[in-house]
This record gives sequence, structure tokens and C-alpha cells, in this order.
Amino acid sequence: MIPTKRLHVITWGCQMNVYDSGRMADVLAPLGYGPTSEPDGADMVILNTCHIRDKASEKVFSELGRLRLLKEASGNRMVLAVAGCVAQAEGAEILARAPYVDIVLGPQTYHRLPEMVARAARAGNKVIETDFPPEDKFDHLPDSATPQGVTAFLTIQEGCDKFCSFCVVPYTRGAEQSRSAAAILREAAHLVGQGAREITLLGQNVNAWHGEAPDGSIWGLGRLLRELADVPDLLRLRYATSHPRDMTDDLIGAHRDIPALMPFLHLPVQSGSDRILAAMNRKHTADDFRRIVDRLRDARPGLALSSDFIVGHPGETEADFEATMTLVRDIGFAMAYSFKYSSRPGTPAAGAPGQVSEAGKDQRLQALQALLRDQQTAFNAGCTGLDLPVLFTGPGRHPGQIAGRSPFLQPVHLSGNASLIGTEAMVRIVANHPNSLAGTLVQERRSA
Ligand code: SAH
Ligand code: SF4
Ligand code: F3S
Repeated sequence: MIPTKRLHVITWGCQMNVYDSGRMADVLAPLGYGPTSEPDGADMVILNTCHIRDKASEKVFSELGRLRLLKEASGNRMVLAVAGCVAQAEGAEILARAPYVDIVLGPQTYHRLPEMVARAARAGNKVIETDFPPEDKFDHLPDSATPQGVTAFLTIQEGCDKFCSFCVVPYTRGAEQSRSAAAILREAAHLVGQGAREITLLGQNVNAWHGEAPDGSIWGLGRLLRELADVPDLLRLRYATSHPRDMTDDLIGAHRDIPALMPFLHLPVQSGSDRILAAMNRKHTADDFRRIVDRLRDARPGLALSSDFIVGHPGETEADFEATMTLVRDIGFAMAYSFKYSSRPGTPAAGAPGQVSEAGKDQRLQALQALLRDQQTAFNAGCTGLDLPVLFTGPGRHPGQIAGRSPFLQPVHLSGNASLIGTEAMVRIVANHPNSLAGTLVQERRSA
């Protein structure tokens, strides 16, 4: 279908929001909406929001203020929708403070977008859909219309039942829900048909996935990965984000048995202090995490890790913070994300005693980030001189260059022919930068 209307989607937050934005574009395609890279002149703009940390709603209202001007310039014809986790958490508030918004929708309702657009089209109608609907949105979505490219995301699990003290996700995304294995295998084959060679399975707690198998039994993530590894032309698999508590024996075994499962795992630990881990309701200790990492590294020698950290959770002392630094030194991360604790309304930690001062959080974050940065630099430097299999994902920055991805998710740049895009080959790494590697082609290895 040739698009007759222009859709611009602004995406904030996690990879699941990136996936959701793509799927919202897919459901709107049959209505004649095609993507446009600028909000200016768009017939519809969707702001897909994130509620995870500080100032989430202020950021939304300031962006909406900017979009309001564009909407007015369009003679108010532009349809303005707010989606994602801020929409879920503050739906009514958004319409009250920004009455020029037409549609507010939570992450569980975007399959109903066409009907919402029709309702909003009746002059003056405001649409708000933030209930958790009884039907499964995935059963009501068309196949993705726009290819994601050589690397693709596939959401297999949503929601969270873990209720960490600091986190809004269980409230914005609801209870844990797993898609069926058949639906996932079908979507994976569809993505590969569109050119995907690497698929990252997504979920707020992706390793809590336990979906219905074709024979009616229940599979865990390890089993699902084994099945996906057999999808023809699918060269690489990853999954994110995991919780240490759900690293089962079978899943660790999958890292030993499945060559396509990349030797790089994002496994958030948040803190290295048992006191703080307990206060966070993580239900594991720092040593539990060390043991899981040991078992993973036994299963897959050379496996590299990334993680998430929060500094300044209520009650965190200098000694607790030092325990986090010790854990980081013990494990050695290839990369990591670290954040200052941010109080989220409605979460248990928000009202907890022992809130840490902003200055204290700043200091700890700086120290932690310096250590993590050194580890990342050392990890990248250790790649120089190695031959790594690289999946080529697209053209490079300069003519004659292509870009790709190492097994450890590092961007790799090299001279090469665009015909290599979508294939994997050995690359000798010749230089390392803070966030990427440079290499030269060794030989073609595997192609789809
Ligand atoms: N489900 C994933 C993470 C989801 S949120 C998990 O359990 O690990 C992504 C990251 O944001 C978290 O790992 C945490 O480090 C950070 N985060 C979540 N809530 C936060 C808060 N209130 N303040 C600071 N960082 C937070
Ligand atoms: Fe949030 Fe914890 Fe659930 Fe992760 S496991 S989404 S941090 S509540
Ligand atoms: Fe943000 Fe919602 Fe993802 S709060 S991190 S967009 S699940």
C-alpha cells in the first residue's frame, strides 16, 4: 500500500519501546500511514514515553509543548498521541495538562490504535486507553510491514512480577506475560524473511519467559533458544533483559550448547551489597551473582558481561557502595549502565528512610563510572589483535566502509563491499576506541 499520510514516532526508553514503536507503525500502515523522519508536516505524531527515572513527565510535557506548535501550524490537523509508560502511569493528567493531545494509550493497547484514530477524528474527541485489555495484543497485530534490518528485536515476554523497591515497571507494564513459542517462532521466521540475521529476544524479565510449546507443554527460555537456533539463516541470538534469579541451569546450558547464542550477556545486578540487595527486594545476594557468573563463564569461556547499577538507593552507606565497587572489580564488565537512584512515586523505596543526598549520589556515580569506563576500555583494548566474527549491518560512515557488530555488541568499522551486509565474516581487530572497534576483513566465514 502506498502511504498517503505521514507518521512520525518519537521513542524514549528501553528496547521494548523501540519494538513497540515499530509495531505501532505496523498497525497504522493499513490506514495509509508511512514513516517520516521529521515531526514537522506529519499527519500524526506518536510520543512513546519512558517513566523509569526522574523528570519523566516534565520531559514529556516539554516535548508536548514543542509538538503543540507544530500541531497549530498544521491547522490542528496533526493527530497527537502519547504512548508508553508515562501514558500508562499518568494518562488523565496528560489530557488535563495538555488538552491538545488527541490520544493517550498504554503499552498494552496499541493494537487498538486504528480504532482510536477513528474515534479521535470525530472533532473534539479525546481518547484514553490505559486499561489492561482482556485480549492479547500480539494476537491482534499484523506481521511487521517495515523490515527492522539485519539486527531485529522480538518481544517474547512483557511485564514484571518482581517488584524491586525502586522500580515502576510492574505498575506501568503489568504482570508477567509470555507469548507462545509458536507465535515467537513464526515471528522469527518472518523477521529472517525480511533480512534479519540477528534477533534479540526482549522482555522486562526475558528469562522469566515460560511459554506454551506447540505440544501444549511449557518451555523455558533455554528450550526456546534451542528451537530458534534451528531457524534457517538466523545466525545470531541474544536476549535482554535478564534477572539473576531466573538464570536456570537449562538457560546456562544453552550458553554452552548453542553457538548462535552470542557470548555476551546483560545481567543487571544493581548493587554489590547484600543489605541493599535485600532492601531492593532483589532476592539474591552478591555471592549468588558471582556464582551465576562463574557458571556462565564455565559454560561459555570468554563470555562477556554487562550490567545495570543504581547508586544511592535509600539506606546505602559508604560501606555498601564499596561492596558494589568490589563486586565490579571481581567480575570485570565489558560495559555497563549506572544510574543515580531516582525516587519514583508509588514505589516502596520512595518513602523509605535513609534517602541519600544528591551530592553523595553524584560522588558515588562518578567513582563507579570511572571504574566501569576503565573496564570497558580494557575490554576493548583486549580485542585488538584478535580475529572476531562480525555481522555486517549496514554502510559505514565513509564511502567504501561498512559497519558491523562483534559478538560482544561492539560496533566494528572496516573497509568492505556493501554486498557483505547481512553476512558474517572474520575480522581482524586493528584498533579500539572508547565505544567501537576498527578492523580489516580476514575471510568470509558464513553467509545466509
Ligand atoms: N527488568 C530489568 C531492568 C528494567 S529498568 C531488570 O530487572 O534488571 C532498567 C534499569 O533502570 C534497571 O536495571 C535499573 O538499574 C534502572 N532503574 C530502574 N528504576 C530506577 C530508579 N528508580 N532509579 C534509578 N535507576 C533505576
Ligand atoms: Fe523493575 Fe525489578 Fe522488574 Fe526489573 S525485575 S523490571 S528492576 S521490578
Ligand atoms: Fe521505560 Fe517503560 Fe521501558 S518505564 S524502561 S519504557 S518498560
